[in-house]
Amino acid sequence: MSRRALITGVTGQDGSYLAEYLLGLGYQVWGMIRGQANPRKSRISRLMADLSFVYGDLMDQGSLVSVVDTVQPDEVYNLGAISFVPMSWQQAELTTEVNGMGVLRMLEAIRIVCGLDKSRVSGGQIRFYQASSSEMFGKVAETPQHETTLFHPRSPYGVAKTYGHFITRNYRESFGMYGVSGILFNHESPRRGPEFVTRKITLAAANIKLGRQEKLYLGNLDAVRDWGFAGDYVRAMHLMLQQDQPTDYVIGTGRTHTVEQVARIAFEAVGLHWRDHVTIDPGLVRPAEVETLCADPSRAHAELGWAPTVTFEHLIQMMVESDLRQSEQEQRHADLALVASW
Ligand code: NAP
Ligand code: GDD
Repeated sequence: MSRRALITGVTGQDGSYLAEYLLGLGYQVWGMIRGQANPRKSRISRLMADLSFVYGDLMDQGSLVSVVDTVQPDEVYNLGAISFVPMSWQQAELTTEVNGMGVLRMLEAIRIVCGLDKSRVSGGQIRFYQASSSEMFGKVAETPQHETTLFHPRSPYGVAKTYGHFITRNYRESFGMYGVSGILFNHESPRRGPEFVTRKITLAAANIKLGRQEKLYLGNLDAVRDWGFAGDYVRAMHLMLQQDQPTDYVIGTGRTHTVEQVARIAFEAVGLHWRDHVTIDPGLVRPAEVETLCADPSRAHAELGWAPTVTFEHLIQMMVESDLRQSEQEQRHADLALVASW
């Protein structure tokens, strides 16, 4: 019988790549969807006809028990979160509830469905993956960051993720649960939300090239990140749940770039110079910035055999090409609508 995976956050960037990857491996994949009329559900159901859906919310303990009981998963991937860091200052309590308490609720749901039976829980019948984040390193204690680097989160998002990280470890140590956290550094793709800086830049480069946008407003151009491709990172999530012993891993490329370099490569890809189009907006600078992040993924290389396959330059070019295609299509539709209205 094929293995069953439950994914929270399936409508997000990582959820969609992970669902495709697991379907390709022969899993039965269930995506947890929230809300009465989730606007992103139709996108996923069209993308993956083989996906099953189940309704639940990380804010609602009862719904999670029901979801886990219905699906009876072998593996749970908890990707659901408020993932945009600036939003976490505006809605700190909600972010803490979803990104922190939501993890505890999912762990409890697994324990309850396993009948609070320690031997069933520790038997690894349901394996749990928690989407931890390099934002937990925040004001970094050392560079590069590895699995034992001290955490110093700089946003309500990072603080909540740190709680989720430690409660996952605690359930592993308390109940022998197979629960692991992947400490993932920034990963991007053409499916990245347009609020994140890489996609904001690649979309703007495409739209400016096509005359559909005038300026691009950015905050801190000097921020340094370790950016990789989301499709590579979901392979690491799956590998982490296939090991003999549950262990946390840092996942990143070990290479860093600045926001300015993202802008330079993206605008070059459409034959423009970023300086002619970018304006600094001090309002986009964060109350407490994470200046620099760089992964040391050597444990994942050695123990999981994981390595990224897409370079930073290729990633940004891939995103620009996708945004150009999408923007041209939108332009054609707009032109046709205009002609039809004549
Ligand atoms: P994303 O595109 O923003 O997707 C977030 C997902 O969380 C969406 O499917 C959203 O569903 C869901 N969600 C939000 N609130 C929820 C709730 N109350 N209950 C259940 N689901 C809820 O994020 P992503 O980039 O794919 O990231 C996936 C996970 O990895 C997140 O936990 C993120 O914090 C973490 N992470 C991401 C990165 C990265 O660079 N991408 C790095 C490290 C860690 P709706 O469609 O209903 O809004
Ligand atoms: N979003 C955004 N918009 N960021 C900007 C802008 C802008 O206009 N201008 C400069 N930046 C800088 C931010 O200050 C930050 O230092 C950097 O670009 C990256 O910002 P984001 O792309 O929004 O990502 P993030 O690093 O805050 O968070 C992402 O990665 C984390 C892992 O390190 C998210 O995916 C988180 O969910 C994830 O945990």
